[in-house]
Amino acid sequence: MKRSQRERNKNGAGRYHGRFCGFSEKLTTIAFAFLAAAVLLITLYRSLSDIVVAEKMAEVSGEKMTAADGGTAEISETAVAEEPAGISGAETDVEMAMESENQTDKSETEIMNSEEIKSETERINSEEIKRVAITFDDGPHPVCTPKLLDGLKERGVCATFFVIGKNIPGNEDIIRRMDEEGHLIGNHTYDHVKISDLSVEAACEQVEKTSALIREITGKDTEYVRPPFGSWCKDLECSFEMFPVLWDVDPLDWTTKNTGDVVRRVLEAVEPDDIILLHDCYESSVDAALQIVDALTEQGYVFVTVDELILE
Ligand code: NI
Repeated sequence: MKRSQRERNKNGAGRYHGRFCGFSEKLTTIAFAFLAAAVLLITLYRSLSDIVVAEKMAEVSGEKMTAADGGTAEISETAVAEEPAGISGAETDVEMAMESENQTDKSETEIMNSEEIKSETERINSEEIKRVAITFDDGPHPVCTPKLLDGLKERGVCATFFVIGKNIPGNEDIIRRMDEEGHLIGNHTYDHVKISDLSVEAACEQVEKTSALIREITGKDTEYVRPPFGSWCKDLECSFEMFPVLWDVDPLDWTTKNTGDVVRRVLEAVEPDDIILLHDCYESSVDAALQIVDALTEQGYVFVTVDELILE
């Protein structure tokens, strides 16, 4: 079956080819030649008609433009001046000139928009975002610290607390609350000691003991330590790395119970990216802190935790 099918195809092809040999092939060739000539003539005729119609339309448009805008020549000149790359057609075709002019206007608008966007972006980038970190040492205090946390929560402000390890037992809820409300908890040693006066082992114990208590409550390791009296040994290598954090603005709040004095001292000295030092174990300091937050917020400051200022 397969072979006979193949033979049939072969024979069929042969017959088909045979019809185009001899006289019938010549006739077909002549017919094709006529057909091709006819198609060519029709194509030429259509092209010529298009050119004539286009010229007429150009004349009509030219008259309209002359009446409305002061002349074809001016528009062509505008097109020449603004778009030298595309002038050859525009010199004679007013529609193209108009289109070209519109495109020029459009691109000018686009350029203006992109320039406006650029300048706006530059303005936003150059505009100083005034950040400040407010920090509290020597807590947690059973009365003052919750009051401070209430005030900060009310204002949506996060602070950094450098807590003393020995103040934690009995105040675990305060530590937990600090963590839950987005504050950063740092280490202020266990006994509030001058680290630099201690042996490396004793200094590390002060830091690690406090960190262990905080970890028990929050499940987090403390990474930041504020050495009491600002005294830190650079070479101190405890079992984990700690970043010492000092301060920029110290109103010596522990020397006065006058809230206004503390507020004034801070506001006079503070600059963007500063770290403010206060103590959450004094009621006057807590009151001052909340007034400082209000005043600086009004001045456009944004309160951040110290890690945001340090880790850059
Ligand atoms: Ni202290």
